[in-house]
Amino acid sequence: MKVLEVGCGPGSFAEDLVGLDVTCLDPSPEMLATAKRRVDGARKERGEKPAVYVEAIAEAIPLPDNTYDMVFCLFSFRDFRDKAKGLSEIYRVLKPGGQLVICDAGKANKLHGFFGVLWMNSVVQIMARVITKEKNHPWKGLAKSYTHYGTNGYYRDMMRSVGFEEVKGRLLYPFGMSSRFKGRKPQTAGVELAPLD
Ligand SMILES: C[S@@+](CC[C@H](N)C(=O)[O-])C[C@H]1O[C@@H](n2cnc3c(N)ncnc32)[C@H](O)[C@@H]1O
Repeated sequence: MKVLEVGCGPGSFAEDLVGLDVTCLDPSPEMLATAKRRVDGARKERGEKPAVYVEAIAEAIPLPDNTYDMVFCLFSFRDFRDKAKGLSEIYRVLKPGGQLVICDAGKANKLHGFFGVLWMNSVVQIMARVITKEKNHPWKGLAKSYTHYGTNGYYRDMMRSVGFEEVKGRLLYPFGMSSRFKGRKPQTAGVELAPLD
């Protein structure tokens, strides 16, 4: 089974993909270097061949059409500058019948998002400042990306408009702030229908 992780970061998810043919994509060469050490280290111990590493953004994936059975995006979707373009590139590289899974920030609706933004920009910032003892801690970026993130319904519609079917997307836990989305490329994608007589 061929699996692609888009925005693999340091490889903390990809290292646990056991028995699969894995490709790790990330725009950051530093992240890819760390991922390579970590993922290939774990794969070698399991007697598996090394993963493939690709330096690129989701919006321009330099990989062939109809290649992957599954694509994962874990906490990288919110960083895509052009989310519709990123989704259409993922759709292109999935095989017909292939599945996309995204885990990322979550806003059940506009009201939930409003309280989430308040929480992210107040309590989370105070806690991060106290714990890290740094003025410019990384949770500032998290609050910014959460603030500009859309609702689950918005991204479900975006996935459908790109062509995904069986689209689902909801909060992982009630009142939580992360969501999981799933969608499938239709089995018939790219199959030309015979003309009707
Ligand atoms: C928070 S890390 C997630 C890492 C990993 N998936 C995990 O769950 O541990 C987000 C990653 O997304 C990458 N990223 C940022 N913009 C991206 C884009 N447009 N396309 C793909 N990856 C992107 C970043 O370089 C970073 O490594």
